[in-house]
Amino acid sequence: MVTSRSSLFSLLSFLILALAILQADASRIHDDYLKCLQSQNSDSISTIAYTPRNTSYSSILQSTEQNLRPASTSLFKPTLILTPLHSSEIQAAIRCAKKHEIQIRVRSGGHDYEGLSYASTSPFVIVDLRNISSISVDRENRTAWVEAGATLGQLYYKIGETSRELAFVAGACPTVGVGGHFSGGGYSMLSRKFGLSVDHIIDAKIIDVNGQILDRRSMGEDLFWAIRGGGGASFGIIIAWKVSLVSVPEKVTVFNLTKTSDQNATQLVYQWQHIADKIDENLLIRLFITSSTSPQTGKKSIVVSFTSLFVGGIDQLLSLMQKSFPELGLAKEDCIEMSWLESIVYFANIPGAASVEVLLDRNSSKSYFKGKSDYVKKPISVKGLEGLWKRLFAEEEEDMEAYFQLQFSPYGGMMSEISESATPFPHRRGNIFMIHYIAGWDEKGNAESKRHVNWTRRIYSYMAAYVSKFPRAAYLNYRDLDLGVNKIKGNTSYKQASIWGTKYFNQNFDRLVHVKTKVDPSNFFRNEQSIPPLS
Ligand SMILES: Cc1cc2nc3c(=O)[nH]c(=O)nc-3n(C[C@H](O)[C@H](O)[C@H](O)COP(=O)(O)OP(=O)(O)OC[C@H]3O[C@@H](n4cnc5c(N)ncnc54)[C@H](O)[C@@H]3O)c2cc1C
Ligand SMILES: *[C@@H]1O[C@H](CO)[C@@H](O)[C@H](O)[C@H]1NC(C)=O
Ligand SMILES: *[C@@H]1O[C@H](CO)[C@@H](O)[C@H](O)[C@H]1NC(C)=O
Ligand SMILES: *[C@@H]1O[C@H](CO)[C@@H](O)[C@H](O)[C@H]1NC(C)=O
Ligand SMILES: *[C@@H]1O[C@H](CO)[C@@H](O)[C@H](O)[C@H]1NC(C)=O
Ligand SMILES: *[C@@H]1O[C@H](CO)[C@@H](O)[C@H](O)[C@H]1NC(C)=O
Ligand SMILES: *[C@@H]1O[C@H](CO)[C@@H](O)[C@H](O)[C@H]1NC(C)=O
Ligand SMILES: *[C@@H]1O[C@H](CO)[C@@H](O)[C@H](O)[C@H]1NC(C)=O
Ligand SMILES: *[C@@H]1O[C@H](CO)[C@@H](O)[C@H](O)[C@H]1NC(C)=O
Repeated sequence: MVTSRSSLFSLLSFLILALAILQADASRIHDDYLKCLQSQNSDSISTIAYTPRNTSYSSILQSTEQNLRPASTSLFKPTLILTPLHSSEIQAAIRCAKKHEIQIRVRSGGHDYEGLSYASTSPFVIVDLRNISSISVDRENRTAWVEAGATLGQLYYKIGETSRELAFVAGACPTVGVGGHFSGGGYSMLSRKFGLSVDHIIDAKIIDVNGQILDRRSMGEDLFWAIRGGGGASFGIIIAWKVSLVSVPEKVTVFNLTKTSDQNATQLVYQWQHIADKIDENLLIRLFITSSTSPQTGKKSIVVSFTSLFVGGIDQLLSLMQKSFPELGLAKEDCIEMSWLESIVYFANIPGAASVEVLLDRNSSKSYFKGKSDYVKKPISVKGLEGLWKRLFAEEEEDMEAYFQLQFSPYGGMMSEISESATPFPHRRGNIFMIHYIAGWDEKGNAESKRHVNWTRRIYSYMAAYVSKFPRAAYLNYRDLDLGVNKIKGNTSYKQASIWGTKYFNQNFDRLVHVKTKVDPSNFFRNEQSIPPLS
């Protein structure tokens, strides 16, 4: 045990020195790696490789670090960033990495909640797919090939350019990458009608641990199953997806009705739980919940936005709401008809966005954040909700610069019609809604970070009584390392991984382990929360 100040100091110096040696060692190894790449791809490597000495290194690294929290605490920075233009360069990146025992992190949109595509506890190289992003839409066959580095916004824009009556089922944030998003599920404002992104993937191209490019036929149905919800990063580098598009009417209807405590918000949330998953599947009503304090009276209030998409016209929506959820008091003037593509811009909520062209912008505003998720199978009592609000209020008081939000995303409809084992994503029938807890903040201070992360943990602990149990389920795309991590060095144990694995995948975890063991037995593709192979 360290008892004196001077021995604490020497321990610290030793740790700093050890880290410096590790870093230096890593950069030497990476020089060999670079030579290997050059020998395989002499022409192009020099134009796609960014070492830390390159003046563009930081801007390339940071441009898609969506979450500044893991970016600021990562023990290592990548010793090299590759921005390939061709699959042959990715093949070389994998083959040389295997040879030199380099760890690869692949990044598409960089929106991973724990930053696993750009932060690591051991030395690594980033293969950044930003320039592998072309999209081709086949209008006649209602399909599209989309490369992994494309963003959801770019895909939506391209589909909208082809036809205003075709759409795709994926998330609301346009700067999310299809590489990570499609391999983890893909919840959409259209999910009650059409399911998830993974339910509409019909083919894919992946580069495996041997550097081979495989499509659905050559990878086989097991691997094709695994990458549709089991996370891509455990199995290879996905370079493209083929998706089937869905049909939507020329006009859909949106509304965003906000209610406060004075306007019966608690009762409305309570009632919403009884219709959210059962109402007509053309309607999805998502809740965004925050708190506010009146500057005049100091009184605290809950603020609930009922943010909704209806696949149909206003009149039909009004009669549906009158029948199923009259308490909300939706009026005609609350509703707006627009094309599905315009609804994407509406829900993306980009300040000042005037046209659908903003969807092409890959650039998004970044913050420090921590998120967690839960699944609700029976309605939470009014008392339970009030306990939740109390915890939101407490945090708001402490920090006006940060935001604390709950999202309630309804399931049911098509989500209940797909079997739990059809894809690795298991959260189907029996789930009323998913909760997403999020704390976000701007300042860099370690104390703030700790306090806000702590808030998510405390609220999560309170909610244990009200959410799914055995396992307490979680959504992979809202990745949460609190659920457990692999020990990166040496063997990852199946038993340890199955704790978080069953939360994300339930019974499907075992099949994922089986696929992993078959396609990557040496565990080349790994991270803090990758599927472990059996040894
Ligand atoms: C602001 C915001 C809004 C969001 N909204 C939604 C939403 O509405 N619905 C929803 O379902 N989710 C949503 N998400 C979660 C999002 O789906 C996940 O974070 C998703 O994994 C991000 O994918 P990415 O390519 O942008 O991230 P990345 O950080 O690039 O990748 C995420 C993970 O996938 C791996 N990966 C990336 N590309 C590949 C590839 N080509 N091959 C193999 N592995 C790969 C990475 O190594 C990493 O482990 C949101 C996230 C944020 C930050
Ligand atoms: C940085 O790397 C890029 C891509 O490899 C290269 O084109 C550029 O010349 C490098 N710039 C410097 C200053 O090294
Ligand atoms: C690759 O991506 C970078 C960063 O987004 C961009 O500046 C560059 O022009 C791209 N290169 C090509 C050839 O598309
Ligand atoms: C549609 O699919 C068919 C069968 O796969 C193919 O022959 C045809 O070329 C496709 N249409 C277009 C426009 O590519
Ligand atoms: C609040 O909701 C309850 C239960 O539905 C209802 O009885 C009451 O009238 C509502 N109050 C207001 C102000 O709308
Ligand atoms: C819905 O309304 C709330 C409250 O005014 C606002 O904060 C939020 O950005 C709105 N959402 C959308 C999608 O417009
Ligand atoms: C986009 O990037 C530029 C710098 O490249 C930055 O100044 C700007 O604020 C970014 N926009 C958003 C929305 O983050
Ligand atoms: C985190 O919360 C716990 C209570 O759950 C408290 O004991 C601890 O001091 C908190 N830590 C920080 C850093 O706020
Ligand atoms: C993993 O464990 C197995 C036996 O359980 C052993 O044979 C193997 O060498 C270990 N691998 C590593 C990388 O430690």
